[in-house]
Amino acid sequence: MKDFTGKTAVITGGASGIGLALANAAADRQMNVVLADIQEDALNAAVEHFESRQTQVLGVVTDTSIKSSIENLYQEATAKFGNIHLLFNNAGVVNGGTPTPVWELPEQDWNWVMGVNFYGVLYGIQTFTPHMIAHGEEGHIVNTASIASFIPGSHPYGISKYSVIILSEALASDLERAKGKIGASVVCPGWVNTNIGDAERNRPDTLKSQANPGGSGLGIRELLAGSKSPEDLATHVFESVEQDCFYIFPHRGWDYLVTEHAEAMVKREGPYRFDIQAHIATRAEGKDI
Ligand SMILES: NC(=O)c1ccc[n+]([C@@H]2O[C@H](COP(=O)([O-])OP(=O)(O)OC[C@H]3O[C@@H](n4cnc5c(N)ncnc54)[C@H](O)[C@@H]3O)[C@@H](O)[C@H]2O)c1
Repeated sequence: MKDFTGKTAVITGGASGIGLALANAAADRQMNVVLADIQEDALNAAVEHFESRQTQVLGVVTDTSIKSSIENLYQEATAKFGNIHLLFNNAGVVNGGTPTPVWELPEQDWNWVMGVNFYGVLYGIQTFTPHMIAHGEEGHIVNTASIASFIPGSHPYGISKYSVIILSEALASDLERAKGKIGASVVCPGWVNTNIGDAERNRPDTLKSQANPGGSGLGIRELLAGSKSPEDLATHVFESVEQDCFYIFPHRGWDYLVTEHAEAMVKREGPYRFDIQAHIATRAEGKDI
């Protein structure tokens, strides 16, 4: 997609972090902006921010893990702006508390994380793609995965994000076959300075976890504070959309993880192991992680 002016972007998880930065980048390009978020106070503040910068904006309280909620978002967005051109399936969450073995992690954690991170992306694709193909104008869908897809032990988050990569590959090949004007990308960020470590703030009461009754976060504020800004990430994503780049890996300092992981598989070794502390130490060497 090359021409953004006057077109409409829908951003899930648009009230904070990467989503908010993507919305600002869209507004910089004179796009109309639709913000979808589960956190109403943050959403209202974001809408006010865009109104004050004279952007045409709509905020819709949305839970992306519920298909009817995304369908409502679609109805409201198209009622206000007509055709949708750019869709960011960006909303995501990570469970906090102490890491718990796969066999002990409660159902609620799987349902919450897979619900938002995987099903939220799937529902976005199912709901918006037919409209985006049918209107015949140029467009693009960007799904947010994570480099955590390749880090053993980062379950259920990494599992949900790996699924988004494979889902996005399926989407891209199906879009190619459909011969429309809609492109697709998957973005796999390393660490970005956002509020993701406190994602528990938006876990629904019905999915509260026995593994983390206090709802504590991941405790990665400091780690994230020293990382890439959401604004830099959003610029990178928009440039990649302009170039129709499918795999968006904004942090070069994680490339070796992807390579080593794939190499371990084709050598029939494994399972792949990753030393996260040694990796964090590479930041002191100026690595982009
Ligand atoms: N920050 C990082 O280091 C990092 C790295 C890799 C990938 N990501 C991914 O980037 C995306 C954006 O996260 P972020 O880092 O900006 O975090 P963030 O917490 O700052 O923003 C996430 C937004 O999603 C919203 N949200 C949560 N649950 C929702 C739901 N069910 N429906 C709709 N909105 C919901 C939150 O209210 C929040 O506004 C996520 O998919 C995350 O997994 C982040």
